[in-house]
Amino acid sequence: MGTTAPDLFVAIDRTRPRGLRVQIEDGLRAAIRSGRLAAGAVLPSTRALAADLGVTRKVVVEAYDQLAAEGYLMARRGSGTVVNRAAPRIAVAAGPVRDDVEIDFRPGRPDLSLFPRTAWARATRTALGALPHADLADDDRRGLAVLRRALAEYLGRVRNVEADPDQIVVCSGFGHAFDLAAAALKGLRFAVEDPGYPGPRARLASYDAVPVDADGLDVDALARTGARAVVVTPAHQSPTGVVLSAARRSALIAWAHAVDGYVIEDDYDAEYRYDRRPVGALHGLAPDRVIHCGTTAKTLASGVRLGWAVLPPALLDAALARRAVTDGSTSTVLQATFAAFLAAGDLDRHLRRVRRVYRARRDALVAAIRCEIPEAEPRGVAAGLNVLLALPDGSDELAVARRALDVGVRVYPLAPFRVTSASGPGLVLGYGTVDPGRAARGVRLLAEAIGGVRTPSPARGA
Ligand SMILES: Cc1ncc(COP(=O)(O)O)c(C=O)c1O
Repeated sequence: MGTTAPDLFVAIDRTRPRGLRVQIEDGLRAAIRSGRLAAGAVLPSTRALAADLGVTRKVVVEAYDQLAAEGYLMARRGSGTVVNRAAPRIAVAAGPVRDDVEIDFRPGRPDLSLFPRTAWARATRTALGALPHADLADDDRRGLAVLRRALAEYLGRVRNVEADPDQIVVCSGFGHAFDLAAAALKGLRFAVEDPGYPGPRARLASYDAVPVDADGLDVDALARTGARAVVVTPAHQSPTGVVLSAARRSALIAWAHAVDGYVIEDDYDAEYRYDRRPVGALHGLAPDRVIHCGTTAKTLASGVRLGWAVLPPALLDAALARRAVTDGSTSTVLQATFAAFLAAGDLDRHLRRVRRVYRARRDALVAAIRCEIPEAEPRGVAAGLNVLLALPDGSDELAVARRALDVGVRVYPLAPFRVTSASGPGLVLGYGTVDPGRAARGVRLLAEAIGGVRTPSPARGA
C-alpha cells in the first residue's frame, strides 16, 4: 500500500447473505459518511484491498465503480481512487463549516431561534418544584411515570395512538428508539424504504431495500423480500414527502400479521402538516404489530435529546434489557420538565406558532422553484421541514450541489437517502431555517447553478 493510502478497515462477513461487493460498498460508504475516511483521502489500490480482504480484485473494482457512480469516490489519474470532496456526507451531517455559505437549505432542521425558551424555563421551574426526591433516581428504565402518562395523553389526542403508559419507553430520540426496537427484534430480517432516511441503515448489519412510490412503501415488493421487520415513515415519507395510502396501510398491517412480523413507525415530523390535519399514526391499526417511535428533534430541537417508543407488550422486556446494558435511562430532570411542558399545553401552543412560520417558508420555497426552476419538480405533500426537488433525468445532483456551493447556497443531494439507484436525481431542500426572502434568493442562485452545470463555462473547464 502506498504511503498516502490509508490502512483501511472494512469488515466483511462471509456468512452474511449480502454479497461481498455490497458489504465492501456499505463499509466504505459508512466510513465516508461518518468522516472516518476524509474528503480527498486516497484509497488503497483495488489490488491491495482485494489482497487484504481475501476477495477477487473484480469485487473491489465493482465496489469502487458503484461508489464512484454515487459520488463518494473519484478516480484520479496518477493518484488512484480518492474520496470525493463533494461526497454525499455533506447531505445529512453538518458537513465542513464554510463561512461563505449565504443560504443553507439543510434538511430536517427546525429553526432553533424559535425554541420556546420562556415556556421551557417555566416548565423546568414547575418540574423541579414538584419532582419527588425518589424521581431523581432512574429506577424505572421506561422513564418517569408522569411523563409516560403525559405522552399517552398527547399521542392519543394528536396522533391517534392508544398507548398504555406502561408500554411507553422514554429515550433520547428516534435513533435510540430504533436501537431498542431493533434489539427486541434481533434475528428478524429487516427491510428499509428506498429512498429512505439513512439513520436506521447505519444501525443495521444488513437489510433489504423496498421501493417507495407515490403511495409510499411498495408492500408487494416488501413481501417478496422475506423480511419480517420494516422501518417506515408513514405520515410523511422521508425524503419523498408522500403519505402512505390507506390501501397500503392496510396491506402493510396484513403483511405484518402474515409473516408474524413488525413495523417500526418513524413518526419523526408528523406534527407538521400544513394543508390539513395529519393522518393518524399507523399504530392505531395494529398496536400489537407496530412499534411507534417519536422524537422532539423536529418539534423542539435535536439537542433536547428526548424521544419515545410505544412497544407491543411482548417486546417490552427485550427492549428494556438492551437499555439496561447501554445507556440505562434518560435524565429524569429532563423528563419531568417535558412532562410539565406537555401538561401546560406548551407543546400545542409552540406547534401552532411554528406551523404558521414553516408553512409560509414552504410556500415561498415552492413558489420560487416553480418560477425559477420550472423544469424541476417539488415533490411531497405540504408537511414537514423539507421538499424533495426532483431534477430532470440525467441531471448530476452532486455537480449541482457543488456549483451551488460556489455561488453561496448549500443544497443537499438525494444520494445519501438512496439505497439502490432506482430513484432519479434530486435535492432534499430544508426550509426550516430559511425565511421567504432568503428562499427566493437561494432558489435564484440554485437556478443559476443548475444552468451552469447544464452549460459548463469554458473558463472553469468543468
Ligand atoms: C426520517 C427521520 N427520522 C428521525 C429523525 C430524528 O431522529 P433523532 O430523534 O434520532 O434525532 C430524523 C432527523 O433528521 C429524520 O429525518
